[in-house]
Amino acid sequence: MDAIQAILSRRSIRKYTSEPVSEETVNELLKAAMSAPTAANQPWDFVVVRERSTLNAVRQFHPHAEMLTHAAAAIAVCGDPTRETLKGRWLLDCAAATENILIAANAIGLGACWVGIYPVEERIQGLRDLLGIPTHVIPLSMVSLGYPAEKKNPSSRYKPERIHLSRW
Ligand SMILES: Cc1cc2nc3c(=O)[nH]c(=O)nc-3n(C[C@H](O)[C@H](O)[C@H](O)COP(=O)(O)O)c2cc1C
Repeated sequence: MDAIQAILSRRSIRKYTSEPVSEETVNELLKAAMSAPTAANQPWDFVVVRERSTLNAVRQFHPHAEMLTHAAAAIAVCGDPTRETLKGRWLLDCAAATENILIAANAIGLGACWVGIYPVEERIQGLRDLLGIPTHVIPLSMVSLGYPAEKKNPSSRYKPERIHLSRW
């Protein structure tokens, strides 16, 4: 699948088959994540989660994470503000990394969904406790992963009226 196709057809997939996702495939996604543009010299770390009990436990502090209970794996995208070279940029860099994972997952036939963590304090603390993330590191998102058990049409969010040519 080419890049434009992977971007335009990406949807949040929340239902997965029981087929496992290989380590090699997850590594492809991590490569895609770390290829994202970075304003703050790569202030990111990633936690790959595969244990069913850990994936299930996210629901205890997150009301919209049911898909993790079916996911084969998830990647937690975390930012370290102490490593960023420009203040506040960790958030932007980690968002770009998250999007790269989502697009790459779609391109290789996986289903994926952005599970929002930051800026909800209860979710940040809950994920820190669950995954042993140090207190100075801020989890931005989790991406749930699995082979898709649902199909969605491309979204039709293109709105020409939101485009301003030359000036607003
Ligand atoms: C910052 C952010 C946080 C999100 N958090 C969640 C979440 O916690 N749970 C969830 O099911 N989907 C979450 N989503 C996915 C959105 O619900 C989804 O992208 C939106 O409904 C559009 O659908 P689409 O991704 O299929 O185009 C999140 C998306 C973003 C960008």
